[in-house]
Amino acid sequence: MIDAFAIASPLLRLLDPETAHRATIAALKLLPPRAPAPDDPRLAVSAFGLDFPNPIGLAAGFDKNAEIPDAMLGLGFGFVEVGTLTPRAQPGNPRPRAFRLVEDRAVINRYGFNNDGHAPALARLSKRTRRGIVGVNIGANKDATDRVADYVAGVAAFADVASYFTINVSSPNTPGLRDLQEPDALSELLARAIEARDAARIRRPLLLKIAPDLTLDQLDSVVRVARERRIDGMIVSNTTISRPLTLRSPSAKESGGLSGAPLFDLSTRMLAQTFLRVDGQFPLIGVGGVDSAEAALAKIEAGATLVQLYSALVYEGPRLVARINRGLLDALTREKRTLAALVGRMARRTD
Ligand code: FNR
Repeated sequence: MIDAFAIASPLLRLLDPETAHRATIAALKLLPPRAPAPDDPRLAVSAFGLDFPNPIGLAAGFDKNAEIPDAMLGLGFGFVEVGTLTPRAQPGNPRPRAFRLVEDRAVINRYGFNNDGHAPALARLSKRTRRGIVGVNIGANKDATDRVADYVAGVAAFADVASYFTINVSSPNTPGLRDLQEPDALSELLARAIEARDAARIRRPLLLKIAPDLTLDQLDSVVRVARERRIDGMIVSNTTISRPLTLRSPSAKESGGLSGAPLFDLSTRMLAQTFLRVDGQFPLIGVGGVDSAEAALAKIEAGATLVQLYSALVYEGPRLVARINRGLLDALTREKRTLAALVGRMARRTD
């Protein structure tokens, strides 16, 4: 078979990132990949009451409008997270708003939740016939008068079609959004989101996605509230507003959230710190700078039951997903361990 991606990737790199992203989505709509061979059963993960065929998921932001979840599952992802979706469509920030930092194998974006709103995504997800885990990441409109009500609307709207929900309070590109990580605001948000979830016909797992820029004191209170409210899991982490001194690309000074390789250390430290505080009460998804089987394994050993990635697709192409899963299997064979036995075994040593 001709590998359309191997040919397309260098060409896509000539386009600005947003245009390349749109072209990729259009191509995947037109030519969805065939379902891959079933995963080795040793890669299977049970978490939040769901059975994942492998632990590698597509992070939010790639398929914001739920246009191609099945095509992405077809690339070998064990699960796909669509969104962030807000109740009403909104244009996001002016272009340019996405930047490749090629020398750093990183991305900076300040999209600002550009999306078509709940209705079109709900219509598409309702028409799905294929199986496979698709989570829905929800947020609030920039001009919302009651932000919490926007999250509640998301839970109510997608309860029939979302395998799980992610409450996104950590995107840096909607002013004030990350203030929802403050204890009182977070407690109220989670209480109301859980109330909406419990009122729905099907009880869906509810996860909280946090920023890597929290102080450890802030993390203490986020985890305390998450445990008190009995959420089902956390995702660590979103993009960072920090700029590591190692960055070399001219675009490093652009404002927005940084992702990719330079986010790996910070997000893995936050993951380990979260794992130690959660004390086994719920599972974690580790995300940030995963670009290889070794990096995925490091997330698992820092405390991730599942892993997500986005930015590395830009640099490595979609075959990365199968490569990571193969590498994980090799590691399990080498270590004579199950995936579950590796979760968090290095958490105390990750700093
Ligand atoms: C993102 N990310 C993101 N996260 C989220 O919760 N909602 C969103 O809408 C988006 N949008 C978005 C756009 C772009 C262009 C990028 C690169 C990222 C964050 C993403 O899900 C993930 O948390 C980080 O990118 C870290 O993972 P990677 O990219 O280093 O693997």
